[in-house]
Amino acid sequence: MKNSKFLRALNLQTHSIPPVWFMRQAGRYLPEYQKIRKNYSNFLDMCKQPKTCAELALQPIDRFDLDASILFSDILTIPDALNLGLAFHEGEGPKFSNPISSPQDIKKLISFDVNAIGYVFKAVEETKNLLPKDLPLIGFCGSPWTLAAYSIEGGSSKDFKKTKSFMANHPTELQEFLEILSNACYEYLRQQVLSGVNALQIFDSWADLLSENELERFSLQYTQQLTDLLKSDPVTSNIPIILFEKAPKKKIDDLVFKNISCVSLYWQENIESVAKNFKNQYAIQGNLDPKVLLESDEIIWKETQKICSIMSEYPGFIFNLGHGITPDINPSKVKVMIDAIRQ
Ligand code: CP3
Repeated sequence: MKNSKFLRALNLQTHSIPPVWFMRQAGRYLPEYQKIRKNYSNFLDMCKQPKTCAELALQPIDRFDLDASILFSDILTIPDALNLGLAFHEGEGPKFSNPISSPQDIKKLISFDVNAIGYVFKAVEETKNLLPKDLPLIGFCGSPWTLAAYSIEGGSSKDFKKTKSFMANHPTELQEFLEILSNACYEYLRQQVLSGVNALQIFDSWADLLSENELERFSLQYTQQLTDLLKSDPVTSNIPIILFEKAPKKKIDDLVFKNISCVSLYWQENIESVAKNFKNQYAIQGNLDPKVLLESDEIIWKETQKICSIMSEYPGFIFNLGHGITPDINPSKVKVMIDAIRQ
């Protein structure tokens, strides 16, 4: 792995051409993904096939020659292993048949058994077998807060009303649940590392639901517990950790992330000003607005180069999108972006 540009960037090295990968690089925008996806009515069933996951993780690597691959799985495997009954039905997004709707549901939760999701670790092994030797594999999990939000809401939602009301009425029990989830995430990521991943990313995709005070109390504190556990364990202590915070109410520059190597910036963040504050402290990953990929080639070229030129001297820059790629994007536009980075 010494030859991995991506891992060297996580170690704060500067590159004239930055390493590139993008969030949700394996997924519905790729026709080769759709071809396999149509064999499964429930997305989760596909995630339980390690060889298929490996094949899907390789698709964007084969097509675009990216600098890192990401495990093909989902953040919601943990609440599923807690018996919340996850399913992904056609065009509906995730749904839990057994969500957390009262404090009693937390009290009677079964304890997390990492072996219940052994299919994820098999997928890591299968993917490592297929990947070129120097191409790193990123493992991941949701932040405890983001997992709690889905578990209480019972799926995706515009306003997460149930979650907000649970937070207002049962803050102590919510914190107990967050404690359970940060321990589960630790075991989950530890097992991914034992199975072969080379870096980790934590997705706090619902950080934006929280006010400034709540952010510290319900999200960052538990992500911190998770990263502290990872750093104190010899199995995981040397594995770089990337953190994605989606639109936090507190200025990202003012947040202190202990034990984090890299901050993955949401597309709304001003990368130039964040870079001034994070220099020599964190690597930065980001942050082209995925919607730019719906524009003309000229605009894609211009916006991509703008970011590359701002970040050209930054110690530890990794080109990425500012959130996941969406199904409406044409893969040829992704190629334009990559050419603009590497020209
Ligand atoms: O290349 C990759 O990144 C693939 C691995 C991956 C998936 N999900 C596969 C997936 C990763 C890293 C994720 C992370 C994930 N999952 C996040 C964090 C990133 C973010 O977008 O903020 C979140 C919030 C989820 C939860 C989730 N999974 C939702 C809400 C949905 C349905 C709607 C949507 O956004 O796609 C999923 C399904 C899902 N996970 C798909 C894929 C490829 C699409 C499933 C399908 O084909 O129907």
